[in-house]
Amino acid sequence: MPEMEGKNVLVTGGAGFIGSHLCDSLLTEPVSKLVAVDNLFLGKESNLNDAKQDDRFIFRNLDVTNYEGLRDTIVLCDIDVIFHFAVIPLEASLEKPRWSFEQNVKMTENISEIVRTADKKITLIACSSSEVYGSALYTPMDENHPLLPHTPYAASKAASDLLVYSYYKTSGIDTAIVRPFNNYGPRQNEGSYAGVIPKTIKRILDGHKPVIYDDGKQTRDFIYVKDTADWTVGIYKNDNTRGEIINLASGKQIPIEVVIKGICKELNYNGEIEYREKRPGDVRKHEGCVRKAVKLLNFNANVDYSEGIKQTVQWYVNNCT
Ligand SMILES: NC(=O)c1ccc[n+]([C@@H]2O[C@H](COP(=O)([O-])OP(=O)(O)OC[C@H]3O[C@@H](n4cnc5c(N)ncnc54)[C@H](O)[C@@H]3O)[C@@H](O)[C@H]2O)c1
Repeated sequence: MPEMEGKNVLVTGGAGFIGSHLCDSLLTEPVSKLVAVDNLFLGKESNLNDAKQDDRFIFRNLDVTNYEGLRDTIVLCDIDVIFHFAVIPLEASLEKPRWSFEQNVKMTENISEIVRTADKKITLIACSSSEVYGSALYTPMDENHPLLPHTPYAASKAASDLLVYSYYKTSGIDTAIVRPFNNYGPRQNEGSYAGVIPKTIKRILDGHKPVIYDDGKQTRDFIYVKDTADWTVGIYKNDNTRGEIINLASGKQIPIEVVIKGICKELNYNGEIEYREKRPGDVRKHEGCVRKAVKLLNFNANVDYSEGIKQTVQWYVNNCT
């Protein structure tokens, strides 16, 4: 089985939410060198403050759509493993669909091509998203659930997955695709394009009413970010995962209304909640099936939602007030 010992590792989107936690997980391993690249479109260098304490860690401000720049970094740093986590987020794809789609696919195209043409074996662990499934046609949603993306973001993720898979089939690149459901935890962007949890916490901390779009009965499957980061490293370390797409989820549905009311409770907010019209592309129901991850990795989501949300709210209270 592949080990991390002595490996030179690259994380794209390393200054982002999941990417920065992945850097922290990787630095608990005996890697030789860890290079995080990010163009800081949404990521923050401060997300890497812990990683920067480690001598093996290097940050590069680099645009992953820049093929030559990326290839030069990979060659110069003698990279053995790439975790591809850079992305333009869902919300941006509603404003700028063509640009977002092109950026996300271009990044995956560049990385796949660099891996294919490299002089040495480079393993690619590519990050997908449960958004590729659209609303659940059945639950729990396994990896064979039809791909019915609702948004240009989701379409770009599905296209990226198919591209990586096609390189696996035609060129035999060493790859696995990790497909996380909704992540939450410290360091998720709370500014523009924020997800529901950081946005709600920030609104309450800033003295605004929390907002529920639609009736709030729409569900998501939430997984704590550290679980995603740790199990992604586990996917690299198990070569039975190669050529596979693997869901990472809690296997539980939580209605958005419950999430928002839970945050209100954590923050002792007793004021009103504002209901707004449904947003375009919002999926109605999500619940991941993790049977494959259990079989391959003995997967288990270690952090329970009730504990994870407490830690998350506390982090924003400490860092955003
Ligand atoms: N957050 C979730 O709930 C969730 C769920 C499932 C899958 N994912 C996937 O996880 C991965 C990471 O998402 P995230 O939530 O951490 O997002 P994020 O926005 O926090 O991180 C993405 C990072 O990519 C960087 N980036 C964007 N364009 C770039 C470019 N051209 N060059 C270099 N860097 C660039 C951004 O600056 C950002 O730091 C993505 O593949 C996403 O699709 C996220």
